[in-house]
Amino acid sequence: MARHLITSAIPYINGIKHLGNLVGSQLPADLFARYCRARGHEVLFLCATDEHGTPAELAAAKAGKPVAEYCAEMWAVQAEIARGFRLSFDHFGRSSSPQNHRLTQHFAARLDAAGLIREVSEMQMYSRADQRFLPDRYIEGTCPNCGYESARGDQCDNCTKQLDPVELINPRSTISGSTDLEMRETRHLYLRQSAMKDELERWIDTREGWPVLTTSIAKKWLNDGEGLQDRGITRDLDWGVPVRKGDAPWPGMEGKVFYVWFDAPIEYIACAQEWVDAGKGDDWERWWRTDKGADDVRYTQFMGKDNVPFHTLSFPVTILGSGEPWKLVDYIKSFNYLNYDGGQFSTSRGRGVFMDQALEILPADYWRWWLLSHAPESSDSEFTWENFQASVNKDLADVLGNFVSRVTKFCRAKFGEVVPEGGAYGAAEEALIATLTTRIRAYEGHMEAMEVRKSASELRAIWVLGNEYLQEAAPWSTVKTDPATAAMQVRLALNLIRLYAVLSAPFIPDAAATMLAAMHSADDRWPGDVAAALEMLEPGHAFEVPEVLFTKIADEAREDWQARFAGVRG
Ligand code: 2FM
Ligand code: ZN
Repeated sequence: MARHLITSAIPYINGIKHLGNLVGSQLPADLFARYCRARGHEVLFLCATDEHGTPAELAAAKAGKPVAEYCAEMWAVQAEIARGFRLSFDHFGRSSSPQNHRLTQHFAARLDAAGLIREVSEMQMYSRADQRFLPDRYIEGTCPNCGYESARGDQCDNCTKQLDPVELINPRSTISGSTDLEMRETRHLYLRQSAMKDELERWIDTREGWPVLTTSIAKKWLNDGEGLQDRGITRDLDWGVPVRKGDAPWPGMEGKVFYVWFDAPIEYIACAQEWVDAGKGDDWERWWRTDKGADDVRYTQFMGKDNVPFHTLSFPVTILGSGEPWKLVDYIKSFNYLNYDGGQFSTSRGRGVFMDQALEILPADYWRWWLLSHAPESSDSEFTWENFQASVNKDLADVLGNFVSRVTKFCRAKFGEVVPEGGAYGAAEEALIATLTTRIRAYEGHMEAMEVRKSASELRAIWVLGNEYLQEAAPWSTVKTDPATAAMQVRLALNLIRLYAVLSAPFIPDAAATMLAAMHSADDRWPGDVAAALEMLEPGHAFEVPEVLFTKIADEAREDWQARFAGVRG
C-alpha cells in the first residue's frame, strides 16, 4: 500500500468558479484521489480557498461586507458546491486560517535566517485621504493612450494597454475617490530567488517523468531568468498574513502583509494541520515532514498551466530555502484551458457555465463525465452544448445506462429479481473475460499515469464490451430455446453491472453508488482477477431494477441552456 498526498490548486475566494477552473485542478485531482483510494492506497486529499490579496478585498467591498465576513461566507458557498460535485477532499481549508498565518510567518523567519530575504525601498502611490498605499487596481484615472476615463492603475480596459499608475491622467483612489495622491517611499521584503537558482535547477532535474507542459514552463522561467528574479513577498494591504518573523515583530514591516502568492501554497501544509485540528486526522507530519515518515509519501499536485511557475519555482524556493525537511512535490499534473462555446470562460465578464449553475441544471455525474473525458491535457479544449449533449446521450445514456436497464429489466421479466442459476461459460464468455482483463489493466495504467482522457476512453470501451456481449449473446432469443444458457448470460451481465460500478466510481460516483445499491452489493473491491470479480453475485442473490441512471438531453433543453448561458451572468 502506498501513501498519496494529493493537492488541488486552491481557488480564489472571490466568486464562484466556472467549469474551466473545475476541470483544471479540483476535478482531475478528485478522480486521482478516488482511484488511489479504490486501489487500497492511503490518501490525503487537500484543497482550500485562497483568501488573501487585492481581489478578495475588492470583491468584499463590492459586496458591501467586511472582508473577513465575505471570505467566511464565500468559503461556505464554495465548500457546498464542492460537495455538490462530490469532490472528496479530506479537508477543505482556508488560507486565512490561524495555522497558515503561523506557518507563513515561520517560513519567512527561516528564509530570513538563511539570508534569503532582503529589504528594498520603493516608491508607491499613497492616498492621504485613505491613509494607505494603493495597490495598482485601487487607482483609476484617464488612459494616456485612448482617453478612457476609468482606466485602472495596471491596465486600461478600453484599449488593453498595460499601465503604470503614474502614467494615469488625473489619478484617483477607487476607495474614496480622492485625488489627493502622492508617490511615497515604502519598504518591502524580497525573496532572493536568484540565490537559489542552482539548487532549484538540481531539484527540477531530479524530477522524473514530469509532463512536458510542466517542465517546459519551469525551464523557460529558469533559463530566461525571468522567473528567478528576486520577488517582492510583502504588500501594503490590511487583509492578509501580517508580516512577522515567526512569533516576533519584523521592525519596519508594521502594517504590511505577505503577498498572496507567498502564503497560498503554504496553505497546502497548513491545510493538513487544519485537518488534524478539526479532528479528522491525527498526524499531519507523517504527510509533510520527511524526518517524520513523509519520505514514503508520493505527493502529486494538480493545477492549470498559469499556476505552474509558482509551483515549480516559487514554492520550492520557499521549501528548499527554509532548510527544513519538508516534503517536496513528486509530480505536477498541469492542464491547458477549457474554452466556452467559441470564446473563453471569463469570471470577470461572467461568461460560461459556473459551478453553481451547472448543478442547478444537471446532476454532478453528467458534468464530471463530460469534463474529464474532454480534459484539456495536450491542448486547450472547448465546451460546446452540442458536444456535451452528444456525449451524455451516447456514453452515459446509450452505452452505460441502457446496458444496466436492459439487463436488470430482462432478468426481472424472465427470472425474477434474483441472480439466476445457469449453465457453464462458453467461448463468448471466455473471450469477453480475456478482453475485459486487457482493457481493465490498460485503464489502470492510464489512471496511474493520470492520463485523464485516455482513462475515460478506456472506461467507455469497457462499457461498450458489455453491450457488444449482450447483443451477441442475445439472451432474449436464447431464453426461448435454452433457458439455462440465457440464465448464465444474464448472471454474467448482472455481475458486469457491479464490476462497472467499481470501475466507474472515480468518474461518476453517484451513478456507481446507484448501480451497487441496485445490485444489493457493498463490495466495491477493485477487480484483481476479472473472472473471479464476475462471480461475486452468486445465484440467488437479490437485486433490483434501478431508476433511470442517465436521462438523455433533449434538443429543446440544449437550445434553452445554450441561449440562457450565451450572455453574461446576471
Ligand atoms: O490561480 C488560482 O486560482 C490560485 N488561487 C491558485 C493558488 S494555488 C496555490 F498556490 F495555493
Ligand atoms: Zn486606454
